[in-house]
Amino acid sequence: MLKGQKILVMGVANKRSIAWGCAQAIIAAGGDVIYTYQNERIKQKLLKILPAEATLVACDVSDDQAIETAFQTIKTEIGMIDGIVHAIAFANREELEGVVYETSRAGYLLAQEISAYSLIAVAKYGRLILKQPGSIVTLTYFGSERAIPNYNVMGIAKASLEASVRYLARDLGAENIRVNAISAGAIKTLAVTGVKDYRALLDESERRTVDGQSVTIEEVGNTASFLLSPLASGITGDVIYVDKGVHLI
Ligand SMILES: NC(=O)c1ccc[n+]([C@@H]2O[C@H](COP(=O)([O-])OP(=O)(O)OC[C@H]3O[C@@H](n4cnc5c(N)ncnc54)[C@H](O)[C@@H]3O)[C@@H](O)[C@H]2O)c1
Repeated sequence: MLKGQKILVMGVANKRSIAWGCAQAIIAAGGDVIYTYQNERIKQKLLKILPAEATLVACDVSDDQAIETAFQTIKTEIGMIDGIVHAIAFANREELEGVVYETSRAGYLLAQEISAYSLIAVAKYGRLILKQPGSIVTLTYFGSERAIPNYNVMGIAKASLEASVRYLARDLGAENIRVNAISAGAIKTLAVTGVKDYRALLDESERRTVDGQSVTIEEVGNTASFLLSPLASGITGDVIYVDKGVHLI
């Protein structure tokens, strides 16, 4: 499905990351993966799990200059690319509990910046090195639509991310670049452990699947692979659930 395609995967922290599931699915579909990492600590982790020939590029999405430099580096070292997976989010732990009206201004802005605005910044610089047709895929969660306990400020950021997907899809459509989001079911990753009582969230989410089995990073990765591929040429500006039916029940 992705033979000969070069895909940038942003957001692998470890082998539990959804971005890792995406990278494995892309490779299985014949694509080549370029990885970005947030900081030196994560780079060291990636070096342990990636083959020696893997391409790694620094990119802290809180810094526009870092994003611009990352895409310039990729263009110089790799050339034009076919797709981007944006699997990045962050909110302070103290905002992921209790009542939403206690959210601080700084905490709100930080969650929006890293979890929603970063997609816009990535699209801004990414379009300059994306081939046509190109595809951008981001990761969202059902907490954008329902008031999930403790998810709070991140649910608000995900609503913003999903709206950004629609507006980006409109504006990048003229350049033959599609933009979509996957709304993944709850999976135990580093990011989820920041949410208070995340165990209860994972258990409840699994209980509400159609078959009692939580979705896996492999299943999310396969859908990302599909959305990056020409098979999904008719899909843009959309949010695709990959949650084993949790949003239905
Ligand atoms: N795990 C779930 O249940 C779930 C469900 C739906 C959606 N998602 C979304 O999937 C995406 C990936 O998260 P995950 O669950 O795989 O967790 P994860 O912790 O493995 O990945 C989050 C990634 O975000 C990166 N990141 C955070 N701040 C950054 C910054 N300033 N610059 C660059 N990178 C930064 C981290 O380095 C990490 O690699 C997130 O958008 C998350 O909200 C997760």
